[in-house]
Amino acid sequence: MSADSAAAQFTKDNPFPSQITENRVLNNPGSAKETRHFVVSWTGSDLAYKAGDSLGVFATNRTSEVEELLELVGATGEEMVSPTMLRLEEAILLSDALGSRLSLAKPTAKIVKTLAEKATDPAEQAKLNGLLDPEAKEVLTTFLADHEYADLLAEFPSAKLTAQELVDHMRKLMPRLYSIASSPRMFPQEIHLTVAIVRYETNKRERVGVCSTFMSDRVTVGQTPVPVFVSNSHFGPPEDGDRDCIMIGPGTGIAPFRAFIQDRIASEAKGRNWIFFGDQKKATDYLYEEEWEDYKAKGQVDRLDLAWSRDQAEKIYVQDKMRDNAAELWSWLDGGANFYVCGDAKRMAKDVDAALHEIVAKHGKMDSADATTYVKQLKKDKRYQRDVY
Ligand SMILES: Cc1cc2nc3c(=O)[nH]c(=O)nc-3n(C[C@H](O)[C@H](O)[C@H](O)COP(=O)(O)OP(=O)(O)OC[C@H]3O[C@@H](n4cnc5c(N)ncnc54)[C@H](O)[C@@H]3O)c2cc1C
Ligand SMILES: NC(=O)c1ccc[n+]([C@@H]2O[C@H](COP(=O)([O-])OP(=O)(O)OC[C@H]3O[C@@H](n4cnc5c(N)ncnc54)[C@H](OP(=O)(O)O)[C@@H]3O)[C@@H](O)[C@H]2O)c1
Repeated sequence: MSADSAAAQFTKDNPFPSQITENRVLNNPGSAKETRHFVVSWTGSDLAYKAGDSLGVFATNRTSEVEELLELVGATGEEMVSPTMLRLEEAILLSDALGSRLSLAKPTAKIVKTLAEKATDPAEQAKLNGLLDPEAKEVLTTFLADHEYADLLAEFPSAKLTAQELVDHMRKLMPRLYSIASSPRMFPQEIHLTVAIVRYETNKRERVGVCSTFMSDRVTVGQTPVPVFVSNSHFGPPEDGDRDCIMIGPGTGIAPFRAFIQDRIASEAKGRNWIFFGDQKKATDYLYEEEWEDYKAKGQVDRLDLAWSRDQAEKIYVQDKMRDNAAELWSWLDGGANFYVCGDAKRMAKDVDAALHEIVAKHGKMDSADATTYVKQLKKDKRYQRDVY
């Protein structure tokens, strides 16, 4: 089968039942983080992906959470349901709906309203009505952020919901996207991922991110089918191998740049590579340290600037390293380099964008309006690309 026909065959609606063949922690002992390297195989099929693409992964929920919900609604899981949000033509088993089709987290105000209508216990009714008070919207927002469906059913036991009523309040469990950390030129039968495993606590209960812990905790390496699809992206290394690349990827943001470097080495691209990476501590969080040091030693990565945020009293971030090297960064940009950013959208990407504007203004000798126009043009020319989440 050709790569193109394989790509067309396996889509979001028809994901490929892959397997994870490697699952290892990238952080050293003592780290506050849990970042894992996964290898996803597509053995026997031509894998059409390119550096810069993402992989969509369909996960299942934790069995313990499904069982808890079944107990709370007094069901066995064998009941047939047709959850509104799934728009199914035929009903499915409740255990399947809760196991892999619906999100058990992030309830909405709708279920609080339903519980308020159904509660028979006066204290529960009073609390639910208090949450629905239009004057106290933030109280409801905070309450919903701390609660999952199981918490609600446990906290308001007098409000009896049938299994069908429960699933009608739930949203579809969506696949999660991960930036691919390998190049098909080096790994045509594998896709590598760099994943931050999500574990936290709310409402005095331990919580987990569905998909990151599905891959880390619930998949048996080489056995469990993992439905995946490639999500093509405009993000990617330049077609012109002579073009220089500046890549800003703290934390898991490093993933696509590992793919870019592999790709540029395999295609013998002559352009220079400048990596900015950062994480909490050098001793424990230098993801793929050996690879980067090796690329640097061989001159395959020309510049490697590292920002360790928690190795000293004050925070040092990738944008600080950009500012420290502003004149040289400007000379790369002015010479035609592409500028890439991957990772946290909320804070990092905004701060890096601000640093870029500053550097362009200062070293390009522009006022702030001209610097803004310059950066806009970089984007239009696809020389400033972001893969942020
Ligand atoms: C294009 C793209 C590329 C991506 N690439 C990567 C990648 O390469 N690597 C990577 O690790 N991720 C990546 N992500 C993020 C990834 O898709 C998932 O969002 C992430 O793994 C979490 O999914 P999950 O199912 O494990 O967690 P979910 O079940 O989705 O849970 C996450 C939710 O838990 C809640 N939460 C998390 N922490 C806390 C806390 N401390 N307190 C309270 N609530 C909290 C928040 O509501 C959060 O939205 C990417 C996303 C996109 C869109
Ligand atoms: N959806 C989820 O639940 C979930 C779970 C995990 C991660 N994420 C997101 O995934 C992305 C990557 O997470 P990650 O664990 O790989 O790395 P990360 O949390 O983004 O941290 C990587 C490095 O970036 C630093 N950093 C923090 N704020 C920054 C800023 N404003 N500018 C530049 N650097 C900054 C961190 O420092 P300090 O931490 O020391 O400040 C750390 O050294 C982030 O968007 C993160 O929020 C989401």
